[in-house]
Amino acid sequence: MPRLAYVNGRYVLHRDALVHIDDRGYQFADGVYEVVPLIDGRIVDEDAHIDRLEYSLDQLSIPMPVSRAALRALTRELMRRNGIASGIVYMQATRGVAPRDHRFPNGVRPSLVMTTQRKSPLPQAQIEAGVAVVTMPDLRWRRCDIKATALLGNILSKQSAVEQGAFEGWLVDDSGDVTEGTSTNAWIATPDKRLVTRNLSNAILSGITRKRLIAVAAEKGFKLEERAFTVAEAQKAAEAFITSSTSLVLPVASIDGKPVGSGRSGPLALALRQAYLDFVLAAPPAL
Ligand code: PDD
Repeated sequence: MPRLAYVNGRYVLHRDALVHIDDRGYQFADGVYEVVPLIDGRIVDEDAHIDRLEYSLDQLSIPMPVSRAALRALTRELMRRNGIASGIVYMQATRGVAPRDHRFPNGVRPSLVMTTQRKSPLPQAQIEAGVAVVTMPDLRWRRCDIKATALLGNILSKQSAVEQGAFEGWLVDDSGDVTEGTSTNAWIATPDKRLVTRNLSNAILSGITRKRLIAVAAEKGFKLEERAFTVAEAQKAAEAFITSSTSLVLPVASIDGKPVGSGRSGPLALALRQAYLDFVLAAPPAL
């Protein structure tokens, strides 16, 4: 089955899929994106992802390229044509194609590209071992609430983390507080089992997995504190973990080389990961 991409109204072979060199996404990173997880045929929290896409576009005064209903239909059609049940759907919308000029162009249609990507689940051994995190200054701009394709701060930080042998980098603001990961939200659990994750603001992305886990954890009776925490507090926490559409809920074993808790995945993070998966799998498959 050849892999297809959706590009501005057409399904094309993924390897031949192109956008124009004057697309403002290419010229200025003038666009936004979503990564929607697919788990055993479920499109996880689809409406919340579309809500956030609308929010990001609205913040940049870019109109929705297609309706919400069309986005939902395109997602299903791309899944069907690519025969994919687990992985991600990637959607990217930009301001469109116009001669290079910093000012917004008039009368331009926004571009929409959608792809699917198969991803094998993380090995169980890695989930049980937990991952290493290293911390670094948050280099990014002041509108991290917008899911913008401009990700230089994120990719430089991720690459630095990987070169240090870590799975993720936690970004630290000028006050010494953790904002979030380079592509994940950051969490800790206190010794008395309260969950702590940074409050929403322009300093972090409002993660859909974060939001879902807050609801799932509340149902399980967990107490939540949405507030900033320092690297030192995280290193002394009972547990730490990260959330995202690609990692779901992933335990953290060490921060800057210091073991967190037992130095392996903790029981709370593993239980929350399971509770998240139970929530997802309780829904019927999309196709
Ligand atoms: N990243 N924070 C940042 C900076 C992110 O890039 C992401 C997601 C998250 C978690 O958000 P969500 O739970 O909605 O995936 C937090 C995606 C997966 C990416 O860029 O590939």
